[in-house]
Amino acid sequence: MNILLLGSGGREHALAWKISQSSDCTKLFVSPGNAGTSLFNVTENLVQNSYDQSDFQRIANFIQQQNIELIVVGPEAPLVAGITDFLKNNSSTSDVLVVGPTQAGAELEGSKDFAKQFMQKHNIPTAASHTFTAETLEEGLKYVKEQTLPIVLKADGLAAGKGVIICTSYDEATETLRDMLQHQKFGTASQKVVIEEFLDGIELSVFVLTDGKNYHLLPEAKDYKRIGENDTGPNTGGMGAVSPVPFADEAFMSKVKAQIVEPTIQGLAKENIDYRGFIFLGLMNVGGNPYVIEYNVRLGDPETQAIIPRLESDLVELLVATARQQLSEVQVNISLQAAATVVMVSGGYPESYVKGKVISGLSDKAESLVFHAGTEAKEGKTITSGGRVLAVTSLHSQLTSALEQTYAQVDQLFWKDIYYRKDIGQDILGYLANGK
Ligand code: AMP
Ligand code: GLY
Repeated sequence: MNILLLGSGGREHALAWKISQSSDCTKLFVSPGNAGTSLFNVTENLVQNSYDQSDFQRIANFIQQQNIELIVVGPEAPLVAGITDFLKNNSSTSDVLVVGPTQAGAELEGSKDFAKQFMQKHNIPTAASHTFTAETLEEGLKYVKEQTLPIVLKADGLAAGKGVIICTSYDEATETLRDMLQHQKFGTASQKVVIEEFLDGIELSVFVLTDGKNYHLLPEAKDYKRIGENDTGPNTGGMGAVSPVPFADEAFMSKVKAQIVEPTIQGLAKENIDYRGFIFLGLMNVGGNPYVIEYNVRLGDPETQAIIPRLESDLVELLVATARQQLSEVQVNISLQAAATVVMVSGGYPESYVKGKVISGLSDKAESLVFHAGTEAKEGKTITSGGRVLAVTSLHSQLTSALEQTYAQVDQLFWKDIYYRKDIGQDILGYLANGK
């Protein structure tokens, strides 16, 4: 079948890599894609045509013209904007199989207030919280003073991963709340602010593939969000990932399934929300108990680059079964190998950085997987075109060896002002050595 994948990051390169291996994939179009996504025989980037992800009509026309049978939506923005509903309600595309929830389902990520209400309604463990608006600012300021420090403030809407501020003093929390509600610090995204209790624990990312009735767990992963080593400096989209996560053992994962995954899927069904796609649970493990920090309605980046290589099953078969509500009829097989992913970024990221640097060392003989993110093919060269540029993944029976192989591959790659973290996975190695 012909397949269309929306997105341009490392996540989409990893998905394209796996989708293109399926015997069910005749042709894969990636819109807009990057320099890596066009490297497979069956793939074609639509970057020349600059398909705007928010131009749903053009996407619908393309689906019709190219006889696309399956569309996979990588990032959250088109889902929150309602691409699934648009395609389903459009007579020429109503039969296309869509992996990605409807707009109502995408609110789990699109509105933190919606997500909190959903969790409260369906008894899903999460930090205690209250939501405030400009009209209720004074109550919000009073609420802040009644909480213990640190206090977590979250912009309600999509804020490119920057909308969460952990305040360590009452003054900072007060000022931040005013900035968000009165001065639109995050534009319309902070018209509502969720004030939340701080959860002290270890984070992990759990990925669920659901057709709205049944589900399969994909491998879990740990993401490294901060720019600096030892988790210092500003948050980024993610600087590396490892999978599996040793503390996500059977006992913990059975709590995740019973207390979070199943009530989430049942809650969506009770609210008549048609959800066929990925649910990415950002979880905090607090003393062995899972709490939801956030829902995302897509896969993570760079977690995808670590978890998809561990997936042994045919991804197209799984995606088709998701869209057709036939997930109970397929199996998900996961490799026991460990995956180690290191993200290589442009110096300066997540603040300002220079694009257009020539990347050297790329080779189709690399032993590791080199996934592209912010890259572009230009005049026979591959150049940097974003903050996060490449993600290197290796698989091995031991995480130490996977990390060694990944870093050996990272050493082969170069551009001016390159940066990457050298400590990815070290905390997990410590956990494996000490059991905590
Ligand atoms: P989010 O954008 O929701 O992923 O939040 C960004 C980061 O803020 C998370 O990855 C956590 O590290 C942190 N965070 C969010 N909510 C909480 C919370 N309630 N307690 C502790 N840390 C949090
Ligand atoms: N790596 C975190 C995210 O994709 O949101």
